[in-house]
Amino acid sequence: MVELRYQRVSDAERFFEILSNPNFEFFEVNIKSVEEEREWLKKNYEKREKNQEYNYTILYQGEIVGACGVMVDQHREHIGEMGYFIDEEYWGKGIATEAVKKLEKIAFEELELIRLEIRMEPENTASIKVAEKCGYSKEGLVKKAYLRDGVYRDCLLYAKVR
Ligand SMILES: CC(C)(COP(=O)(O)OP(=O)(O)OC[C@H]1O[C@@H](n2cnc3c(N)ncnc32)[C@H](O)[C@@H]1OP(=O)(O)O)[C@@H](O)C(=O)NCCC(=O)NCCS
Repeated sequence: MVELRYQRVSDAERFFEILSNPNFEFFEVNIKSVEEEREWLKKNYEKREKNQEYNYTILYQGEIVGACGVMVDQHREHIGEMGYFIDEEYWGKGIATEAVKKLEKIAFEELELIRLEIRMEPENTASIKVAEKCGYSKEGLVKKAYLRDGVYRDCLLYAKVR
């Protein structure tokens, strides 16, 4: 069973453990220590208050297995972009798919967003599958839209509108 709850500063150690995985190939992690992760988590309340980001911890059978969030476009406040990651030990169980469905409900019904986007590198097959299983439409390839490891990379753009 997959549940979402607001992130807590005490999630820092577990998130750092999950994100330290070298197999997170297509996902830029800028956090270098548990302390930095804590500092990042402390900003969540303010980000919500400013309508910038709504970040959640993903629980599977009560255990922390990942995170997801929606970032509100600050120039077009009806648009949100979703992101997610799951501990490799739990990949392939449908957890990200369930989490995105729950996050989408929050984004459309509570935050009243009109358009939700998911962007990923074209090689990120697992993330593409998640977007497709959740009913997002492929809108195209956005050139040099994402900076990872100092290189501007193309991204696939998936979206759903209500
Ligand atoms: C992307 C990610 C969140 C998916 O999490 P997950 O809980 O394993 O996702 P799900 O189980 O809901 O769905 C993944 C699907 O991709 C499939 N898949 C995974 N790797 C694959 C691969 N290399 N080739 C083909 N299919 C693949 C799985 O089989 C599954 O499909 P299925 O349900 O039809 O079997 C996870 O891989 C992750 O955390 N990756 C690193 C961070 C990341 O890239 N985040 C997204 C940034 S855009």
